[in-house]
Amino acid sequence: MSKHSNGLPKRCVITIDGPAGVGKSTAARLLAQRLGLVYLDTGATYRALAYAALQQGVALDREPQLARLARALPLRLSQTRNGALVVWLGSRNITRPIRTERVTEAAAAIAQHPRVRAALVQLQRRLANSTRLVAEGRDTGTVVFPRAPLKFFLTAKARIRAGRRRAEMQSLEGRSPALPVILKQLKARDQLDRRRHVGPLVKPAGAVVLDTSSLDAEAVVERMLRHLPEILVASIR
Ligand code: C5P
Repeated sequence: MSKHSNGLPKRCVITIDGPAGVGKSTAARLLAQRLGLVYLDTGATYRALAYAALQQGVALDREPQLARLARALPLRLSQTRNGALVVWLGSRNITRPIRTERVTEAAAAIAQHPRVRAALVQLQRRLANSTRLVAEGRDTGTVVFPRAPLKFFLTAKARIRAGRRRAEMQSLEGRSPALPVILKQLKARDQLDRRRHVGPLVKPAGAVVLDTSSLDAEAVVERMLRHLPEILVASIR
């Protein structure tokens, strides 16, 4: 078994899945930073494709066109010095525009198409370009990296998730719908994510479940770090 300086094995994929607003992105970014691993936000690939489709006027129910667009998507992810994700489409920085309400809804819609998912899963594995990473999304532990030695599934009460989403929208767009409206949108997206036939949102077998309702991101990461020895055990099995 070859090891790096932080004591982790060469193959070290940690997956974090869960519905919107459970704090996946922040926890994944912090965890990756702490461990010196690559951070992969798979939701950003759905958002980037949705953004490109809206820009190019491709209807969100046109699966073949969307899949073609996904296969040729000039997407690149980078990180700032403090670990924040930067999303590029060609030479355009689309980090902020992909977080708008319109793109959020469009991303959930295109994520229903099996052929789109297949193309984006390929893209995600390519973007990972590393066997040492923290991947975050809805199906990273079940479909994208099913052999990951350590998987987390985050949950939180719906009202709390809606509150977090509202705060995010306020800071991004300077405004946001009322809490009941956000709660309704969130539940509708949850249903879409849980009920689809391909890559649905489910707890991966063997995943550690963490309820983040009363935990901040630091506390979530602390709990995650307690499970690190499981990676070492898996790597010598
Ligand atoms: O996580 P985020 O909110 O950025 O994801 C945007 C949308 O992309 C989600 O609502 C979900 O429908 C879809 N998605 C997915 N599978 C993933 C990541 C995101 O279906 N692995």
